[in-house]
Amino acid sequence: MRITIAVQPRGYEALIENGLLCHAGALLREIFPHRKRCFVVTVPVVRRRWGLALQASLAQRRWETTFVVMRQGERHKSLATLQALAGKLAEAGADRDAVLLAFGGGVVGDVAGFLASVYMRGLDIVHIPTTVVAQLDASIGGKTGVNLRAGKNLIGTFHQPRLVLIDPQMLSTLPEREFRSGLYEALKCGVIGSPELFSHIENRRERILAREAAELEYVIGESVKLKAAVVSADERETGLRRILNFGHTIGHALESRTDYRYFLHGEAVAWGMVAAATIAATIKKTDRATAERIGRATLALGALPRVRVNARHVLHSLQSDKKTKDGIVHFVLPRQIGKVEVVNDVPKAVVLDAIEQLRVFSR
Ligand SMILES: NC(=O)c1ccc[n+]([C@@H]2O[C@H](COP(=O)([O-])OP(=O)(O)OC[C@H]3O[C@@H](n4cnc5c(N)ncnc54)[C@H](O)[C@@H]3O)[C@@H](O)[C@H]2O)c1
Ligand SMILES: [Zn+2]
Repeated sequence: MRITIAVQPRGYEALIENGLLCHAGALLREIFPHRKRCFVVTVPVVRRRWGLALQASLAQRRWETTFVVMRQGERHKSLATLQALAGKLAEAGADRDAVLLAFGGGVVGDVAGFLASVYMRGLDIVHIPTTVVAQLDASIGGKTGVNLRAGKNLIGTFHQPRLVLIDPQMLSTLPEREFRSGLYEALKCGVIGSPELFSHIENRRERILAREAAELEYVIGESVKLKAAVVSADERETGLRRILNFGHTIGHALESRTDYRYFLHGEAVAWGMVAAATIAATIKKTDRATAERIGRATLALGALPRVRVNARHVLHSLQSDKKTKDGIVHFVLPRQIGKVEVVNDVPKAVVLDAIEQLRVFSR
């Protein structure tokens, strides 16, 4: 599948296909007929599992390849890592003709994207994402960044890639929990804008969880389509792009209340989607049946870490989130499967109740 991300001044494509990794060299050659060197930013585990296949494919099309390895984990999505990687590029003699490859999960994508946007005032980058989150979310849209102690993603840029190569087969080596956590974001895409994707995940859950190649290709492809459409319409996140935050308002609050250590991001978003569905039903934006369907489909993807935090504390985090302006909390709420709406006047009591409900679901 070929999906265009239509941004200014130059759009690009995301290619999604099982086995694509082995064609990376040729696909890069099409875009960069005369370049010589590429630098692969990655983490040890990805290099160990998939590095040889990538290197072989690049060598076939006369790419001179250098691996630039960073440590894995959100903790290393930092300015220190950026500095270390830039130093390695310089030592290896990378100049402005170098092509950077982001080869890893969202952490690698965000750091490598940032590096590409500032090293020698800008290099071309191609994303080859290797986690569910990176394949259907982080690699599309050009947001880059690193964390500060004061908060996540506080420093960053917009830097669109030249190409995104998505090979769902690479998900076969992903730890189970990481894999499932990413699927909630696919379900999210279904609620936001694709009833077909949503039903597909409901109906073919077992096969998807078993990581059947054709299923993953479909689920990732449809999710990328949705994100590409939203990003193309709203490159710099002014309005429409906000709908991608379905489940993220309460999700972020749960993550921050637990110091980002207890939930994986997608798991917190899963709870956030359940809560948003409850809120939507309570204030009659949607009917009970739709809200329950969203809750059921989410919880059916597997056991989630329990919600044990105090609802009032979660509400407090919500109101102090960096995306909250003037204390007004925006909720993305479902109207029906495939259609959401941004609402900013949800009564506090309704929010509190919905969070309380999560504790009940957790028992
Ligand atoms: N830029 C964006 O628009 C955007 C969107 C969503 C998320 N993000 C960012 O993405 C990050 C989360 O990404 P993530 O969930 O991919 O986490 P991650 O990059 O930390 O990857 C998760 C773990 O899986 C390992 N791994 C990666 N690929 C593997 C493979 N194929 N086989 C085995 N192990 C593998 C990684 O080393 C890591 O330990 C966050 O920092 C988030 O802020 C950015
Ligand atoms: Zn998310």
